Amino acid sequence: MGEGTLQDVLDGRAAWCVVEGECLEVLRQIPSATVDALVTDPPYSSGGAFRGDRMLKTSDKYVMTGTQVQRPEFLGDNRDQRSFAYWCALWSAESGRACKPGAIIAQFTDWRQLPTTTDSLQAGGWVWRGIAVWNKGPSARPAMGRFRNQCEFIAWGTNGEAVDSQAVGCLPGAWDCAVNSDEKHHITGKPESVMAGVVAICPPGGVVLDPFAGSGTTGVAALRLGRRAILIEKSPEYAAIARDRMRAEERGQTLKQFRAGQQTLWEKTP
Ligand SMILES: C[S@@+](CC[C@H](N)C(=O)[O-])C[C@H]1O[C@@H](n2cnc3c(N)ncnc32)[C@H](O)[C@@H]1O
Repeated sequence: MGEGTLQDVLDGRAAWCVVEGECLEVLRQIPSATVDALVTDPPYSSGGAFRGDRMLKTSDKYVMTGTQVQRPEFLGDNRDQRSFAYWCALWSAESGRACKPGAIIAQFTDWRQLPTTTDSLQAGGWVWRGIAVWNKGPSARPAMGRFRNQCEFIAWGTNGEAVDSQAVGCLPGAWDCAVNSDEKHHITGKPESVMAGVVAICPPGGVVLDPFAGSGTTGVAALRLGRRAILIEKSPEYAAIARDRMRAEERGQTLKQFRAGQQTLWEKTP
């Protein structure tokens, strides 16, 4: 089915779209009760306890010292706790309007923002139903004399009453997966296998919405599992990466292979 407009995806004429823009504006363009699942990984605004920390570049907050790969900065990661909660309630309510009754929300978060995330999810009108866990394993966040903060969390719930979910079946609630930089195309990019585990909660053939797409991992997982995807991303650089990643996925290629092919085509054009 390939790439199309937001309406093409909703009507089943296309499998995916990447819309570059502010999610609160783009979400308003989605007709009510049309989406099957909201799977998203918003900026956590979690990298700093103090104002000065929050104003740092995302690479200063989230990239470990010694990391070789450079990735673009991302947007919207400078809210304090209260404004983060208000803001999450705003976009989760607007996403909820776009979602069908009984649709799923699955929102990534870390240990600092977990309480705020489950509060704001409910403030947005969703019914909070549980927490799933991504365990990054023993190489993540070592801290002498302390427990490692080696897990991220997925707060999940439904848009009102849950609906019949025979087609989805019974899913695991935890994934062990180390970060693999070969498939990481965003400063805080999620592993494809973890994202696939989360996206599996969308009914087969359904539409997954991600208002904070970053490098498009949610969309890649959706295509792989036979779901459609509406991806929204404000950063032009990341929207371009997400688009290329989706095109690569359709061809069974990695982003690197796809971009090498594009370069060759461009070089051949007289
Ligand atoms: C944590 S990242 C998502 C990473 C993604 N899960 C991946 O694997 O690549 C959140 C993304 O939301 C984008 N963003 C922040 N505020 C936004 C807004 N108001 N509207 C749309 N996108 C926004 C950021 O630029 C960032 O790329």
